[in-house]
Amino acid sequence: MKRLVILISGRGSNMEAIVKACAAEGWPAEVAAVISNRPDAGGLLFAAERGIATAVVDHKAYASREDFDAELARVIDSFAPDLVVLAGFMRILTPGFTARYARRMLNIHPSLLPAFTGLHTHERAIAMGCKIAGVTVHFVTAELDHGAIVMQAAVPVLPGDDAKALSARVLTAEHRIYPQSVRWFVEDALMWDGERVTHRDGAAQQLLLA
Ligand code: GRF
Repeated sequence: MKRLVILISGRGSNMEAIVKACAAEGWPAEVAAVISNRPDAGGLLFAAERGIATAVVDHKAYASREDFDAELARVIDSFAPDLVVLAGFMRILTPGFTARYARRMLNIHPSLLPAFTGLHTHERAIAMGCKIAGVTVHFVTAELDHGAIVMQAAVPVLPGDDAKALSARVLTAEHRIYPQSVRWFVEDALMWDGERVTHRDGAAQQLLLA
């Protein structure tokens, strides 16, 4: 059984999708804990109701990023995870922290990386006149929204879309590719080829939604 620790900052819908898929599909894994940097993160309630351990490491209580990351790592490691899953976790991480979890920490970013790293991806895609938008699941490195891509999903940007409409369309795709990516990790189906990641049996690492 692989142990997962999921980090959230807010509503936690990706965390919820992973928890549900893990149970419904009988993955060889268990969600050992859900950790938030915000005490009021909505997702904490869902996790607690499911009997999953929860913890809060409030970034506001620490003088520096290093101090916060050190405490976060201590709490994460107390649950002995095989994989750390960043699911809407809105903190920039120090290089020491990302190195500690190299090749065992995933993130989801709501753009087709390497386009639109950082915040406000949907607003920026619409402002640029993009016709296709999407979402990426990738391993985390020291560079923000970088690292080997596990899966991407593409969705159309439709005339008249605002950021809310586009983010809702992208979120549907997120809830499909994040559980799929985590499942591959826990099944040991992901292979490293240099700096790239492929599926052992050549499963499609992209999802194209019309
Ligand atoms: C998602 O759009 C995710 O891609 C981004 O933050 C949002 C988190 O949503 N990083 P939720 O908390 O999983 O509902």
